[in-house]
Amino acid sequence: MYTKEQTQELQQRTKRLLKQPSGIDELRNALKFHEYRYYVLNDPLISDSEYDTLYKALEKEEAAHPELITIDSPTQRVGNSLNKEFVTVQHLVPMLSLENSYDEDDLIDWDRKAKGFIKADVIEYSAEPKFDGASISLIYENDILIRAATRGDGAEGDEITTNIKQIKSIPLSAKFSEYGIRQIELRGEVLMTKENFAKYNEYMVSEGLPPLANPRNAASGSLRMKDPRSVGKRGLEAIFYHVSAYTKGTETKLTPLLNTHSGTLEMLWALGFKSPLKQKKVIKGIEGVVAFCHQFEKQREELPYEIDGMVIKVNKVELQQRMGSTTHHPRWAIAYKFKARQATSKLRKVEFQVGRTGSITPVAKIDPVPIGGVTVASVSLFNPDVIEEKDLRIGDTVMVERAGDVIPYIVKSLPELRDGTERPIVFPKNCPVCGDGLIRPEGEAVIRCVNINCQAQVVERIIHFVSKDAMDIKSFGEANIRKFYDLGILKDIPGIYTLNFEKIATLEGFGQKSVENLKSAIEQSKSQPLHRLIFGMGIRYVGETTAKTLATAVDDLVDFKKFTMEELQQLEDVGVKVAASVFQFFQLRDNIQMIEHLRQLGVNIKSSKKEVTVGKLTGSSFLFTGTLPTLKRSEAEKMVEDNGGTISTGVNNKLQYLVVGEDAGSKLDKAKKITSIKILTESEFLNMLQT
Ligand code: IVH
Repeated sequence: MYTKEQTQELQQRTKRLLKQPSGIDELRNALKFHEYRYYVLNDPLISDSEYDTLYKALEKEEAAHPELITIDSPTQRVGNSLNKEFVTVQHLVPMLSLENSYDEDDLIDWDRKAKGFIKADVIEYSAEPKFDGASISLIYENDILIRAATRGDGAEGDEITTNIKQIKSIPLSAKFSEYGIRQIELRGEVLMTKENFAKYNEYMVSEGLPPLANPRNAASGSLRMKDPRSVGKRGLEAIFYHVSAYTKGTETKLTPLLNTHSGTLEMLWALGFKSPLKQKKVIKGIEGVVAFCHQFEKQREELPYEIDGMVIKVNKVELQQRMGSTTHHPRWAIAYKFKARQATSKLRKVEFQVGRTGSITPVAKIDPVPIGGVTVASVSLFNPDVIEEKDLRIGDTVMVERAGDVIPYIVKSLPELRDGTERPIVFPKNCPVCGDGLIRPEGEAVIRCVNINCQAQVVERIIHFVSKDAMDIKSFGEANIRKFYDLGILKDIPGIYTLNFEKIATLEGFGQKSVENLKSAIEQSKSQPLHRLIFGMGIRYVGETTAKTLATAVDDLVDFKKFTMEELQQLEDVGVKVAASVFQFFQLRDNIQMIEHLRQLGVNIKSSKKEVTVGKLTGSSFLFTGTLPTLKRSEAEKMVEDNGGTISTGVNNKLQYLVVGEDAGSKLDKAKKITSIKILTESEFLNMLQT
C-alpha cells in the first residue's frame, strides 16, 4: 500500500504536523496513513495521543472550512445520528453460500468432479481460512465507498454503510481507478477478535447480562446496532476475500491481477484492505490442499480470531466462470469444515446457584460429553429469558457448543427427539440457600435474592475479595473458603484477618507448610493498594477500572461517606448507575463498620496516590472539563500531578483552577458561580507549566 519511501516521507511529515498541525490535505493523508498502520498492519508508528492531536487539528480546520470536507476524510467515519431503520438493498450479484466438505474424501470427490467439468488433469487451487464472522458486501464507485450491506437472504441485505464506516481498517476510499476499475463489489467478513470478545463478555457479565455465545454473534449483532458510535467501540475487524462484480473505467486497462483469486487478494491488499493474502496458499492438485487444511486446523487456536474451516477456490477466474454456480453455491469453491466443537447431550436437571450479588443463575447439568478436548457436564443458562427463548426442558436432548476460549453454552434443544416425558424448568420462588423470597427487579433479566446476609452471598463475597484481581490472597482457594465457612471458622470478610490458624492446622489436608503459606499470604494482602480493596468489596457495577478511579478520589476509604451522588458522577467514567451503587454502599452502616473493622485489623484503606511531588503546581488544585484541543484528560492530569498539583474530585470551594475545553458542561456553569476559581484554557494551563 505504501512504499518504504512513502512511509518515511509520511512519517517525517507527521513529525512536522505534530509541531505545527495545519493543512487539511496533509492532515488527512497523514491520518489515513496512520489508520492503515494501526488497523490494517497492527503496527502503529505514532502514539494514540499523537493520532488524537492530528485528528483534532483536522476537525478544527474542517470546522473552519466545511466546504473542504471530503467524503473519505477520516473525520467522516463518525456517525452522529442514530440508525432508525435499516433499508433493504439488493446485492449486485447474489451472495451464495458455499458447499461444505468435512473430510479428505469429500475434497477428493469434489476435485474429481471439478476436473471432469473443465476437462483438466490437475487444477490450481487457492486455499485460505474460512473466517467465522458476519459476511458483508461493499460497493466502491469512482474510488469511494458508497454502500455497505449485510448478507441478508443472499439476494437482499440491510444497508449498514454508517456502521461499517466505524470499522477503521475499512478504507473509505481506495484507488481502484489505478487498476482500471470504476465500480466494484467486494465480499468480506466482519470479525471480533477473541480478545475483544472476551472483554466484551466480561463487561456483559459484570452488568448482570448474559454473555454472547460466540464472536460471530457479537460481530453480526454489532453490524445492526442503532448507534454507530457503539459499533466503533467494539473493536471489530474486516477481512475481504472476494470480488463479486466490477465495471471497467473509461480508457483504462484492467489489471491482470483480477484474472486469478490470489491476484485479487494481492490487489485488495495493495489497496489498503485486509485480505488473507499471507494466509492463503496456491497449490496445484487436491493432495496438497488436504495437507494444508490439516496443517491449518492445528494452528486454529493460535489465531487471534475464530475460523471454522478453510475455503478452497479454483484460482483462475476464467475457469471459475466456466464452472459457474448452482442455485445455491458456486461450483468453483468449497468450504472444508473443521471438526465441530459441538456435541449433543441430555439435560438431566437444573441447579440454581446464588451469586455474590444475589443473582440466581440456573445451571444445566448434562450427561458429560467431550467437546474439543474438554469434558463438559455443567452449562450456565444465565437467566430465565434464555431458558424461555430456547424452550429448554428437563429431559431434552440439547446441542452444546464450546468455541475456542469461550465458555460452553447450549445452542438449542432438539424438540424432534422429545418423547413426552420432558418437564418444564421451574424457577424457585425462594432462595435455595436462605429461603427468602426471590424478586425480579424491574428492567432486569436476572432474578435475585435481596437478603444481603444470605449465606451464599456472604461466601461468594469472600471468594471475590480473596480473588486474583482483588486482594490476591494466594493459597486461599474457593474450596477452602467454603470449607472454613461451613465449619464456622470464617464468617465474613474481616474474619479472614482473624482466622484461628491453630484450629486450621488440625484440619485434614493442612500441614504446617500450608498453614504458614496461608498466614503469610493473608498478611501480605493487608498492604494491597486501595483500588484492590475497593474492587474486592464487590460494590455492584464497580469493576477494576472504576475501582482505580475511585481509589484516586479519596485519601481514606471512609471519605466516600461524604460524597454526594453529584460528586461521584464527576469522576471519570462514573455514570448515574455506578454513582448510585457506590453512594448506597457507603450509606450503609454495616459497610462502614466493615471498613473500620478492616482498618483496625491492619488492612490498608488509604490511597497511596499522594506521594508528594514538589513542583510548579504544588499547592494548587485542578480540574479538567470538556474536550481539550490537544491533550487527553489523563495526560493533562498526569502533568498536574507530575508538577506537584492535585486533581480535585469536583467543583467546590477548594478548587483553584478549572481548565475548560470544548463542550464544557455543568462544571463550568458551577465554577462560574464560585469567584475564587480561575477558569483557564488549555494553552493558559500549558503556560503555567512553562513559566
Ligand atoms: S468466498 C461466492 N472466502 O462463508 C463465494 N467465503 O458459507 C464467496 N466465508 O457467505 C465466498 N471466509 O460469509 C469465502 N475466505 C472466505 C470466507 C468465506 C468466510 C463465509 C462467507 C460465505 C460463507 C459461505
